[in-house]
Amino acid sequence: MTDKPAIPGRLEGLDYLSELPQPRPHNHEPRMFPSGFLWGAATSSHQVEGGNTKNDWYRWEQVPGHIVDGSVTGAADDEYNRYEQDFDLAAGFHQNAHRLSLEWSRIEPAEGQWDMEEVLHYRRVLEALRARGMTTMVTIWHFTLPQWFADRGGWEERDAVKLFVRYVEFVARELGDLVDFWNTVNEPTIYLGQSYSIGVWPPGVSNQFRMLRVFRRLAKAHSMAYETLHRVLDGRGRPVMVGMAQNVITFEPYRKESMADSYFVWFADRLFNHQFFLWTKKRHDFIGINYYFHYRIKYVPTKFTQFFYEVHAENRTQSDLGWEINPQGIFQAIMGMARYKLPIIITEHGVANADDSKRPRMIIAALMEVYHAIRAGVDIRGYFHWSLVDNFEWEKGFSGRFGLIAVDFATQKRTPRRSAYVYAEICETNGVPHHLLRFTGHGVRW
Ligand code: FCB
Repeated sequence: MTDKPAIPGRLEGLDYLSELPQPRPHNHEPRMFPSGFLWGAATSSHQVEGGNTKNDWYRWEQVPGHIVDGSVTGAADDEYNRYEQDFDLAAGFHQNAHRLSLEWSRIEPAEGQWDMEEVLHYRRVLEALRARGMTTMVTIWHFTLPQWFADRGGWEERDAVKLFVRYVEFVARELGDLVDFWNTVNEPTIYLGQSYSIGVWPPGVSNQFRMLRVFRRLAKAHSMAYETLHRVLDGRGRPVMVGMAQNVITFEPYRKESMADSYFVWFADRLFNHQFFLWTKKRHDFIGINYYFHYRIKYVPTKFTQFFYEVHAENRTQSDLGWEINPQGIFQAIMGMARYKLPIIITEHGVANADDSKRPRMIIAALMEVYHAIRAGVDIRGYFHWSLVDNFEWEKGFSGRFGLIAVDFATQKRTPRRSAYVYAEICETNGVPHHLLRFTGHGVRW
């Protein structure tokens, strides 16, 4: 036996190096995920169903200029009628879970009136997932409001939370037996920014004070929905998992040496990513992360209405919508939310990329980061890609193509993109097969 060389400056006999985990030989194994990991895709009612005429978005779309490419949802993906066909595709691509949202304006088309036909419809949709062995995740509110609720003042109305909770209680009772995971609300901060700050979504308001009021309302709505779902569904013999989907943005200072930029990074992280959770403590069974954005933050003293900062994305790889593509940022997004010590589910991640030249690489790069976060000890339970099919991308209309499956909206023809096959291989393997790393290299950089 040879003596180990002494480590200068260390206490003799303290062989700390051998106590560190030793690197494993690189043996080209797939990067495996925990068993039971949920692999799915996500959609939302108004973006795919078609025929939604009783919500605030329907009216908003009729006004010229509101939708950038001039489109209206119309029949959208006709998902209302074609869900079985699309679930067959998803299941055929080895997805074992699916996230969709309920259209409040179908279920409660007029105040206090419940449409039991629509309830039956959603029961059939969820049963269709069950029949394919898929885990169900249901979003209760994904941006669209019934017109009657919007007319009363939407989330600003004094009784807004009460009215929302009545709807939550109704769907809990009617559909609760078919839902595995609940998202109460989707991306409150994005809704606030679009609807109450820049005003490009209904109700088209630009007012920071009204925005902050709605922010508090949405936090309250989540907390009360959380309690309602547990009150109605606990004790029925199956776990009730309630969370929400938070758009987690990763921030970094635009000027690395600037204290002001760094301060605003802290501020933006707190406001966008964490404030909602601070208001809704202990009312989450899991954390849903929607990851799309990585922002470089620059402090600008004159930008009062933008909370004094600007976002920069120059010289970065971009999607068809000009959003920076930064899949490795999902690691930071996860680590930032890991502080709540709850299971994490990636409830959305995707890219607008019609020719699919960037999506496969982006999926693999992001999933390698998810893999590393799991190895670093974070309890991550699933990944839902946005989206299963191309769909109506809000104020951008049909020009943002987010689908694993391309849709020709004139004929409703579905054509899986290459990324659908790449993702299918990952779902089937329950991990990233080594040979897929050819898209990204062995490193984890984009
Ligand atoms: C998210 C939304 C979703 C979709 C994607 C691209 O912010 O939750 O509805 O529009 O962005």
